[in-house]
Amino acid sequence: MPTATAIAHPNIALCKYWGKRDRALNLPAVPSLSLTLAPFSTTTTVEWGASRDELMLNGRPGTAEESRKVFAVLDLFDSWRPRARVVTQNDFPTAAGLASSSSGFAALVLAGAKAAGQARTVEELSVFARRGSGSASRSLFGGWAEWRAGERGDGLDSYAFEIAAANHWDVRMLVAIFDAGPKEVSSRDGMNHTQETSPFYPAWVSSAPHDLPAAKAAIRARDLEALGKVMERSALRMHACMMAADPPVIYWKSGSVWAQEVVRSLRSKGIPCAWTMDAGPNVKVLVEAEHAEVVRAKLAVVAERVHVLEPGGPARLVEPG
Ligand code: DP6
Repeated sequence: MPTATAIAHPNIALCKYWGKRDRALNLPAVPSLSLTLAPFSTTTTVEWGASRDELMLNGRPGTAEESRKVFAVLDLFDSWRPRARVVTQNDFPTAAGLASSSSGFAALVLAGAKAAGQARTVEELSVFARRGSGSASRSLFGGWAEWRAGERGDGLDSYAFEIAAANHWDVRMLVAIFDAGPKEVSSRDGMNHTQETSPFYPAWVSSAPHDLPAAKAAIRARDLEALGKVMERSALRMHACMMAADPPVIYWKSGSVWAQEVVRSLRSKGIPCAWTMDAGPNVKVLVEAEHAEVVRAKLAVVAERVHVLEPGGPARLVEPG
């Protein structure tokens, strides 16, 4: 039976994706930009031609909802496809504060294409990964990636691409953990609810695209101060928008605010660093490698745990054996 295995790293957005212009096709309302992060990774094997569709996720059978999403993505390769067995494993704790869906769907589409014997462009794979989870469109790429919102109704122009490779800039992303429990509200539910009820949502959609050119210029110039301004602004506007929803969506905990204060205090002492947050209380801090240890030590005082991550490469196939 044709079988293939792929590995992908998760990514963290610096310019956030929040809100959809089409739910069925999972098309974003705004463009976004991210950094792919190693060493955390997801390894996924697809066996094309099994007795039934079967998903194993971190050593347990996938739930009905997880299986529905995974096999709907494989259906995109061939609506008459044979049944498939998918085995996927994260090498990082599910509560590590990183979106395993981003690495998961990126590894799935790469392994799926190979197992199905299909030569797909990386843009096509990014479109397929997007259908599983929006942020996964960016995890096909190493280093710094942009995901275009696109304009087409069929979504074929809404894919990600690399802006700069992993070795372009020697940075670290520190992930300060404040709550290892499962999310109270998934990003998908949180963003749909924000879109439906927040009076700030139109302002978010019209302002967010302007962050991209500034972020890209800062990345090209390796200017952490300039990038930090954009990434904190993007995170704050996204969270402000969801806090204004009815009822509000509030992912922040007291520790999240402490970590933001640690970052501001380090900055006032001349250490360039900047924070971002996603659909959870954990705080991610971007810093140049030379300052990573100082920042890690300060965050460790307020956080339960701090992971130190670095720019990772693109999703890749793994040779059998
Ligand atoms: C806050 O990609 O998990 O992390 O497309 O509905 O699966 P779906 O959402 P998902 O949302 C990620 C939201 C975010 C920001 C980002 O990664 O850009």
